[in-house]
Amino acid sequence: MRSLVAGNWKMNGATADALHMAVALRAAAASLPCDLLVCPPTTVLHTIANALIGSPVAAGGQDCHPKASGAHTGDISAAMLRDAGARWVIVGHSERRADHGESDALVRAKAEAGAAAGLSVIVCVGETEAERVAGRQNDVVGAQLAGSLPGHFTGVVAYEPVWAIGTGRTPTEADVAAMHSFIRGVLTARFGAAGTETRILYGGSVKPGNAKALLGLPDVGGALVGGASLVAADFLAIAAAAPVATLSNTAAGG
Ligand code: 13P
Repeated sequence: MRSLVAGNWKMNGATADALHMAVALRAAAASLPCDLLVCPPTTVLHTIANALIGSPVAAGGQDCHPKASGAHTGDISAAMLRDAGARWVIVGHSERRADHGESDALVRAKAEAGAAAGLSVIVCVGETEAERVAGRQNDVVGAQLAGSLPGHFTGVVAYEPVWAIGTGRTPTEADVAAMHSFIRGVLTARFGAAGTETRILYGGSVKPGNAKALLGLPDVGGALVGGASLVAADFLAIAAAAPVATLSNTAAGG
């Protein structure tokens, strides 16, 4: 399976940025060894999705409400994202969990809503620094997976250690590989053969300089990129560092 390199713009970017990015991604996408996804703010989602029509680059939302419609002022449903041109949605990002107190149960409901609207879903998990220092990262991520993943799951998992997001720090390659192996075990124990196919993205300070090493690790099926995804040249350099899919990493779901 090809790697997925996804850009999460978070609360950054205006119309001009979206159009500029779409032009740059369109021009480069066909020659890249991975699938590309860009998740801009909802205000420019339609603009960028429209500008990417006919290209292999997909657009996605950064969050959705668990309900399809109703009296929820300021919220956006998965169906609305789809209507705006999204094919993907991120749920359970640590910034949503921290800023908005999102529970695993809510993240699961959002993941179910995304899938019901026909979106591919990226479910984010990851431990805090204190949890890693205490050696509790597997317990924390295991509990997040147990609570956040729907009973039937065909999406993508993103492992994003909270302490690596926006800090310029990353876990060691051995620690990333160990966590991705742990997540793979959880997925196969719960979903059987389907769990061997799930792409598991790494996120947290992925940059052009560390992308090749991180994307080449076992069970790393791509990257969820924050800051570096705002600069087209950096985002494309990360994407270009993805491994070319081979039979062996296809078998591993990589
Ligand atoms: P940075 O790449 O800026 O560390 O952000 C990672 C992230 O949170 C992507 O969702």
